[in-house]
Amino acid sequence: MTAKILDGNWFAGQIRERVRNEVVSLQQELGITPGLAVIIVGDNPASQVYVNRKHKACGETGIHSVVIRLAEQTTQNELLQKIEELNRDGSIHGILVQLPLPAHIDEMVILQAISPAKDVDGFHPFNMGSLAAGRELLVPCTPAGIVRLLEMAGIDLEGKRAVIIGRSNIVGKPMALLLLSRNATVTVCHSRTRELAAIAREADILIAAVGKPGFVKPEMVKPGAVVIDVGINRVEGKLAGDVDFPAVREVAGAITPVPGGVGPLTISMLLANTVKAVRLLQP
Ligand code: GUN
Repeated sequence: MTAKILDGNWFAGQIRERVRNEVVSLQQELGITPGLAVIIVGDNPASQVYVNRKHKACGETGIHSVVIRLAEQTTQNELLQKIEELNRDGSIHGILVQLPLPAHIDEMVILQAISPAKDVDGFHPFNMGSLAAGRELLVPCTPAGIVRLLEMAGIDLEGKRAVIIGRSNIVGKPMALLLLSRNATVTVCHSRTRELAAIAREADILIAAVGKPGFVKPEMVKPGAVVIDVGINRVEGKLAGDVDFPAVREVAGAITPVPGGVGPLTISMLLANTVKAVRLLQP
């Protein structure tokens, strides 16, 4: 069997169309243009690419976007001051600080300084805690995009075995919570997990977010399973996922490619979260 390819660009386009319509209704109903501020510290080349993509996607959907580029030597206090300014800025509804930050800045302190109501990344402990408690406010974009993709592709989650490889705050943990609240039976695997291959092979839905190119081999996949590849690895200048795509597509029932899978959905969910933040900010 050759797997159905889940085309992330197509699903992302559907979400962006909805966001574009939402932007128009917010302007008509409330006279508000959603505004997103993205802060980037230093000149990490991959981060520059991601931030430029986010800025461009905002422009295409009518969201006002500001990119704030700060030097690598920016102090933690200077960054906190910038965030405070944006927390108070009425034209800005979403604030995103691109990660990773330089080593001299404490990431957790920065993420906690963003007003939870403007936290479009969903990384603030208030939003993470709400998600854990079963209330989805601003939800991290990558796992939220994966849930949308599964829903739009008509893949039912109820009672399914879902296995996530990776336990990061950005993907693995929020992914587990989202799947759990949709009644999947969820297992989270990580670098210390024993018998990982055997666990992965039980999955109806297998999500790979490990950051190791080609980590998921066909022996780790149940025939017919849905395989979602979150990996963005650079191998010899090319983008590679966490899944050995050519081999696994012969076993899986459906699979996301890299590039053109989860990546475009993440950006679409950032736009969707910015629009959602406008609604959440209304009295
Ligand atoms: N760096 C890699 N992924 C992300 C993300 O989703 N949000 C932010 N802020 N930084 C990232």
